Amino acid sequence: MLSFSKKVELTNTPTDETEGRPADQPLGSSTDKVIGVPSAAEARLLLAEAERLNPGRWVQHSIVTAEAAHNIACHHRELDPETAYVFGCLHDIGRRTGISHLRHTIDGYEFLSAKGYEGCAGICLTHSFPLPDLESYSGNKDCTADELVFIQAYITGIHYTLYDQLIQLCDSLAAPRGFCLLEKRMVDVAMRYGVNESTVPKWEAVFAIKQKFEASLGCSVYEVLPGIGETTFL
Ligand SMILES: [Fe+2]
Repeated sequence: MLSFSKKVELTNTPTDETEGRPADQPLGSSTDKVIGVPSAAEARLLLAEAERLNPGRWVQHSIVTAEAAHNIACHHRELDPETAYVFGCLHDIGRRTGISHLRHTIDGYEFLSAKGYEGCAGICLTHSFPLPDLESYSGNKDCTADELVFIQAYITGIHYTLYDQLIQLCDSLAAPRGFCLLEKRMVDVAMRYGVNESTVPKWEAVFAIKQKFEASLGCSVYEVLPGIGETTFL
């Protein structure tokens, strides 16, 4: 059972990561609750509903991503653990509409926006772009021309917050069976969706994010992800 009761020192001082977020989409980098984000219980209900519509390994991957984000946030003074959990839980919620590739990012964004959860809708778009470049997506770009323009404008029009970067990292730490080494997940995704000239720079961006969080945690992110050794060597 996860606990969202981490006691942390509150600060209202924004970090660099939040300053570029539009004023109407306040994504806090402090431990203040982020506006426009459902509770963890509500997020799990949304995920359960999505699983009924489109069951698959992506659901368990989402839960593992959420747990990784929660665990890291518990050791990070600028992140709220429940918010981190919710972002991880919902980052792939666009898969509720069926089997898709890039389409799942815009479907998730539109779904959460329509629900009034503008505070976390953006995570559906940003989690796939550690590099803010549409061409870095190696899967099928199964979106309309207008949607592609929107996604590119969105990811280049904001500065990624700590939460955006946290989920970009945790997405690569979460196999459906549990936490796993970044390299294992990266190869798994590359084998399923292919690679392009941006693949290595994208991996480098994720490793840079890992280093950034480890500087804040004062330890390896792997140290806060129990069972990672077992899952990695399965
Ligand atoms: Fe994911």
